[in-house]
Amino acid sequence: MEKGRKLYLRTFGCQMNDADSSKIKSLLAHMHISPVKKAEEADIILLNTCSIRWKAEHKVYSELGRFKKIKKSRPGVIIGVGGCVAQQEQDEMFKRAPHLDIVFGTHNIHRIPDMIKEVDEKRDKVLQTDFFDSPEPLVYPVPEEGGIKAYVNIMRGCNNFCAYCIVPYVRGREVSRPDLEIIDEITNLSDQGVKEITLLGQNVNSYGNGPDSGASFPDLIRKVAEVNGIERIRFATSHPKDLSHDLILAFQEVDKLCGHLHLPVQSGSNRILKAMNRVYTVESYLEKIEKLRSIAPHISLTTDIIVGFPGESDEDFEMTLELMNKIRYDSAFSFKYSLRPGTAAAELDDKLPEAEKDRRLALLQDLQTELTLEKNGLQVGKIETVLVEGESKKGMGMIYGRTGGNKIVNFPGDKNLFFKTVPVKITKGFVNSLAGELQQVH
Ligand code: SAH
Ligand code: SF4
Ligand code: F3S
Repeated sequence: MEKGRKLYLRTFGCQMNDADSSKIKSLLAHMHISPVKKAEEADIILLNTCSIRWKAEHKVYSELGRFKKIKKSRPGVIIGVGGCVAQQEQDEMFKRAPHLDIVFGTHNIHRIPDMIKEVDEKRDKVLQTDFFDSPEPLVYPVPEEGGIKAYVNIMRGCNNFCAYCIVPYVRGREVSRPDLEIIDEITNLSDQGVKEITLLGQNVNSYGNGPDSGASFPDLIRKVAEVNGIERIRFATSHPKDLSHDLILAFQEVDKLCGHLHLPVQSGSNRILKAMNRVYTVESYLEKIEKLRSIAPHISLTTDIIVGFPGESDEDFEMTLELMNKIRYDSAFSFKYSLRPGTAAAELDDKLPEAEKDRRLALLQDLQTELTLEKNGLQVGKIETVLVEGESKKGMGMIYGRTGGNKIVNFPGDKNLFFKTVPVKITKGFVNSLAGELQQVH
């Protein structure tokens, strides 16, 4: 086996893909393949892709075009594409990008070393996009160098089939990983210095619904909290229909569970929620938020919203703004509806002009900016527990970390505080961050 080859790996899309990419790096490290920052310097070029919206998918093809020149000048370079676009397009990818060597699907991460060996030996194209019923074999991801945060997949796939969404098609059915294996992985990460764990899945609060997992999601959180060295636990993403009372209680009972919940609402209109197949109503969503806030009044709440779903009227859109005003999220990711081939919504009449979608998106984002500023302003004067992540982008003796609510705080400090958990008094709230000053550590 040839030694010392270099890997360029670019990741698009969600944290699920980040976690998969970290596994890819770990697997290839065993083959003495180490990461570099420029594709031009690499022997192996891999893209881990996302197809959640048209734009995301399009980016992959433009990025691939960039590699044509590299392949021409160095035909020995291996170029591979994986993730959700690869899963969706399968061998079509070879037709659109003939300079590709490998196409690997979302269930095939563990097969990458074998696929590279196969290209080495046969110099032929390799396609592996099979779905497997059981979870993939355990691969320990490598935490980023000096990293104190890590993502851990606790399940894969999704059974919800929201009408607009490609994920169930490209990630397959929901399967939970055994709790013991997850705890094992987290213990290993903690041994390497990781302090903050984010439990990942498309719908983490239905963790354990299938056979074999061994624990419910709130029980899993409690088990993770017992792992020595782990100081903070986060999770993403939750479907409102599965937000159980037990999970709400965990925010009160488990000290290490951070006070932040990302609970995508998608729309404030019951008619649109029904058309989206979200299976909850605005009223039942609000009831859960109320319960949550009665137990954890300072919890930070974030959401995802889609504007311009087929059939969304002005009134429907107004209802979304109304709901945002009522809930007052700390922040929101908002998107224009993008038709995904093969999904149920692709069959619906999508008559809204692009300009109208743009108008609605801008209105919604302006409102959210106001709400975020208001929320962050309310933080001023409070003392927050901040896990310091490193030097601030602002430079000049500034460092940064995150609050339990997942807000970035910049404050004066030095290297000695890196990776420590410290009290910081908030002095100002901006849209994307807070400013603060370190409190005396007694
Ligand atoms: N599993 C998560 C979200 C996964 S995708 C959940 O259920 O909440 C992240 C976000 O992308 C979604 O919450 C949705 O707001 C957005 N999204 C998904 N498909 C989309 C589409 N076709 N067009 C626009 N936005 C979409
Ligand atoms: Fe997509 Fe819905 Fe599944 Fe989230 S819950 S991944 S939006 S189908
Ligand atoms: Fe994108 Fe696939 Fe994640 S479509 S959002 S990378 S699950």
